[in-house]
Amino acid sequence: MQSWNEYQLANKDRFLDELLDLLRIPSVSADSKHKDDVKRCAEAVRDHLLKAGCDMAEICETAGHPIVYGQKIVDPSKPTVLVYGHYDVQPADPLNLWHSGPFEPVVKDGKIYARGACDDKGQMFMHIKALETMAKTGSMPCNVKVMIEGEEEVGSNNLGIFLENNKERLKADIVLVSDTSMISMEHPSIESGLRGLAYMEVEVNGPNRDLHSGVYGGAVANPATILCKMIASLHDENNHITIPGFYDTVQNLTEVERAAINSAPFSLDEYKADLGVSEVWGEKGYTTLERTGIRPTLEVNGIWGGYIGEGAKTVLPAKANAKISMRLVPNQSSDEIAAMFQAHFEKIAPGYVKVKVTAHHGGEAVVTPTDSPAYKAAAKAIVTTFGKEPIPTRGGGSIPIVALFEKTLGLKTVLLGFGLDNDNIHSPNEKYDVFNYYKGIETIPYFHKYFAESFEG
Ligand code: BES
Ligand code: MN
Ligand code: MN
Repeated sequence: MQSWNEYQLANKDRFLDELLDLLRIPSVSADSKHKDDVKRCAEAVRDHLLKAGCDMAEICETAGHPIVYGQKIVDPSKPTVLVYGHYDVQPADPLNLWHSGPFEPVVKDGKIYARGACDDKGQMFMHIKALETMAKTGSMPCNVKVMIEGEEEVGSNNLGIFLENNKERLKADIVLVSDTSMISMEHPSIESGLRGLAYMEVEVNGPNRDLHSGVYGGAVANPATILCKMIASLHDENNHITIPGFYDTVQNLTEVERAAINSAPFSLDEYKADLGVSEVWGEKGYTTLERTGIRPTLEVNGIWGGYIGEGAKTVLPAKANAKISMRLVPNQSSDEIAAMFQAHFEKIAPGYVKVKVTAHHGGEAVVTPTDSPAYKAAAKAIVTTFGKEPIPTRGGGSIPIVALFEKTLGLKTVLLGFGLDNDNIHSPNEKYDVFNYYKGIETIPYFHKYFAESFEG
């Protein structure tokens, strides 16, 4: 039998070609126009699981986009790893900022450019290729269950129901996810936490119709101006969030924990240069790594109203809207924060306008232990293939289902991500380094091996 390394070397080009094919399917979960593409992508993932050597793999229909489930059980007495990932992607717009088509992947300078290259098709597919490697070389160290969903980018509501209804089938010892990032290939790291999310939409209504801004302007409150003032008031001069009660349940970290977070390699100058900003911004008293890792935030994701077409139109808009999200940390409840936001936003609305606040999807924050056998197996796998001990970090993004793995299935998660912060996920020109793709495929089987070994003697 071939070794894992030999097998991967011999099949390396095919591994890449297959990923490129998957990236050609525009599986945009948020856009109903792509419903059939999403389904086609689910079928492709199922076929790949079967070809990789799963005993079974099937499409599980939901009220929304399908979930793909497959498994390979080698010995019921051995431990089981449940792999989770998502095959859906974010919308590709603005299209004009892409250097090549978002669904026409190109490999340039060692990078794969396409929507989903990193988030999460590229990272999810590493697990299918790792599984193939273990299966085809006859060396599966443990049982593997694979669950790949099509609604992560729209909140995973149907996957939550699927967990409730499939507790027996999903029985496992750990969940393994590659949907996060590392500091760099020189500084491999493992995220030991994800933030939660509360996502709101607001509408500020003024007069009963759009008005001529000369005839009425200055005499009637402009909803766009009022909305801007209301949004501006949500942070104080220290960039603290002003919603009453917002920080009440936030756990303050000890100085030792904060020092650990700040000891990760990080260059503020490189960070600023990469983003093209001359100064960073954020909550007073916290570093950039703390602001993105352990502190809650509030951001405007979109704001619109009035005339935004070509040229000028003199108009006082009847309404203005915004989408506002809050990233949450452990112990903050997404529902409670959404309710606090709503109450506060309604309270600060001046009498000139009426506001409407609605909540979109949310999710809870998680911290994953760094002293567990599963984390240690991941760290050892990284040492094996990178030759370096990984640094634990706290990531800023959210994967809402991870909190439910614990709540519904009683399972902890290991976040073995291989992305980089500058992979442009959710942005034009999303990319994933070919090196990272292969490194992930190389590393994952070692996780299974070391995790299985942690159950022996
Ligand atoms: N993979 C990301 C989350 C992520 C990115 C975690 C980078 C850590 C580092 C995931 O696909 C995602 O985009 N999640 C959304 C939440 C979802 C409810 C739309 C997010 O974080 O905005
Ligand atoms: Mn993702
Ligand atoms: Mn995403």
